[in-house]
Amino acid sequence: MPGPEAEKDKKDFRPQIPMKTEGFFLRGSASLDWGMSNRLSRIFNPKSGRTVMLAFDHGYIMGPTTGLERMDLDILPLEPHIDVLMCTRGALRSCIPATTSKPVCLRLSAGATILRELSMEMVGDIDEAVRLNAAAVAVQCYVGEPGEHATLSNLVRTVDAGNRVGMPTMGVTAVGKEMARDARYLGLATRVLAELGAHFIKTYFCEPGFEDVVAGCPVPIVIAGGKKIPELEALKMARRAVGQGACGVDMGRNIFCAEDPVAMAQAVRAVVHENEKPEKAFDLYQTLKGEAKGKKKR
Ligand code: 5RP
Repeated sequence: MPGPEAEKDKKDFRPQIPMKTEGFFLRGSASLDWGMSNRLSRIFNPKSGRTVMLAFDHGYIMGPTTGLERMDLDILPLEPHIDVLMCTRGALRSCIPATTSKPVCLRLSAGATILRELSMEMVGDIDEAVRLNAAAVAVQCYVGEPGEHATLSNLVRTVDAGNRVGMPTMGVTAVGKEMARDARYLGLATRVLAELGAHFIKTYFCEPGFEDVVAGCPVPIVIAGGKKIPELEALKMARRAVGQGACGVDMGRNIFCAEDPVAMAQAVRAVVHENEKPEKAFDLYQTLKGEAKGKKKR
């Protein structure tokens, strides 16, 4: 008869239960390594498959743009209401406490300002993204602009470096001043970036044809907000984008330049994660804005 020692060593392999082989929730992302998938699961909510990224990297080309004069004061109140902080290393180190639990999408491309040719960028080192515990890096690409070759090379080099350490790359389709943001151009640019290895793409919403842009791009797309428009219009744009297949937003000015940025972040969140109708999300925005005003008066 086996004694208590033998009982302790008895193993239970449960052979009757087959081991599950799960797929991955993001489009075009089923063949990635564990670290890469884990980082992408911090960027995109595995339940909704979507994300609300807050873009506040504008200063890297524009200096202290409206709404971002004081990143320490302007961004921190928004942090609880968004999923991802998208910014430069300078903003991160100087203004965002390292105690944050929010994932960071670190802008890695830089080197130009609005005073000169914007498409002349280079890229920083992937080690810096690892050091900053980033969940992804962002590289701007100027398809059809003077810096096309340089910026697409930046993307290829960053994807190669990121693949070595499990860091996803967000390719950003930057649009030059003179260029149309139509489905033909955005379809071309997003597809090029995906084929060069970007793990997800940031682009602009366009009408008509955004659905086709999404369908022709084999990896997830998030939309930039673009220049400030009325809050209800921005919520409608976000709704149309996710309705046509975008996996969320990487929105800046339409959040931090809103009359009440904290309320706007929550309204955008309702649209993106809860499929809220834009009008309802706008009601939420108005209510939260009213409550905030009420609190200030007291
Ligand atoms: C510029 C960027 C910016 O981060 C982003 O597009 C700005 O966001 P928004 O347009 O919503 O203000 O990547 O190409």
